[in-house]
Amino acid sequence: MGTVYLNGEYLGADEAKISPMDRGFLFGDGIYEVIPSYQGKMLGFGAHIERMNNGLNELEIKLDYSADTWRKICNDLCEKNQGDNLGIYLHVSRGADTKRAHGYPTNITPTVFAFAFEIPAEPKSDIDSATTYTVSLEQDRRWQRCHIKSTALLGNVIHYQHGAAAGNKETILFNRLEEITEASSSNVFIVKEGVISTPPLDNQILPGITRWLIINILHSYSDFNVLERIISKEELLDADEVWITSATKEVGPVVKVNGKLVGDGKPGAVWQQVQSLFTKHKFDY
Ligand code: PDD
Repeated sequence: MGTVYLNGEYLGADEAKISPMDRGFLFGDGIYEVIPSYQGKMLGFGAHIERMNNGLNELEIKLDYSADTWRKICNDLCEKNQGDNLGIYLHVSRGADTKRAHGYPTNITPTVFAFAFEIPAEPKSDIDSATTYTVSLEQDRRWQRCHIKSTALLGNVIHYQHGAAAGNKETILFNRLEEITEASSSNVFIVKEGVISTPPLDNQILPGITRWLIINILHSYSDFNVLERIISKEELLDADEVWITSATKEVGPVVKVNGKLVGDGKPGAVWQQVQSLFTKHKFDY
């Protein structure tokens, strides 16, 4: 990690220090964003900042950073840290208190931390060179406020790790009603007989910016049928295609769920069309 941003300063990563009394450290009391940037161009910047502001409001963390301030931090980090393909991590915690007490303190200053990290090159849309995903499937055991992009990610981390221990690259989750929610760090789409479906936005999933971009792009073409609806675990297991989406994966084709092939075990034709439209339009929003 090269140069990072901490509370108004640019520092070497090893020089940046925060208090052990920071509530981000003690309680996971904070929110974060990950914004991809390719050749210096950010993807979905406005939507990421809006989601961060929604999270700050919901947690009653008062921070007076404008979108322009965030844009400058992101651009500065891209400049100071070389690389064509960067993820920009933004993090705001409630700040450091003098004591460890659960209630929100009123007079502390939020801690703002940001850094840039290398991400894979822009995903390709041809079937033979696509990055594909094998996934595990298990019951979602996280909290009831998954729409907040909280830094308290232990629930997600445990789910991810269960998938990794089974040799998979992600874990897709279903609730107690056996309805698909999302994955440990991605949203989920399925395709059946040409119809594209993704779970609706509610407290059980993160309103992913990649999900939002995909839906917007596809709605601008009349040839796609895209539904936001409840998807059962059975439907996912019987789907022609399954995709996981996130800032760094874009539209990631899933080829195996719990060891069972999805379709013929290769990225599907609808995935190919959608990833190439995503590549074409992703900077339009
Ligand atoms: N994760 N759902 C969860 C639980 C996530 O953590 C993420 C992203 C997404 C996709 O959101 P977006 O399209 O805005 O990236 C869905 C980021 C990349 C992370 O934690 O690193």
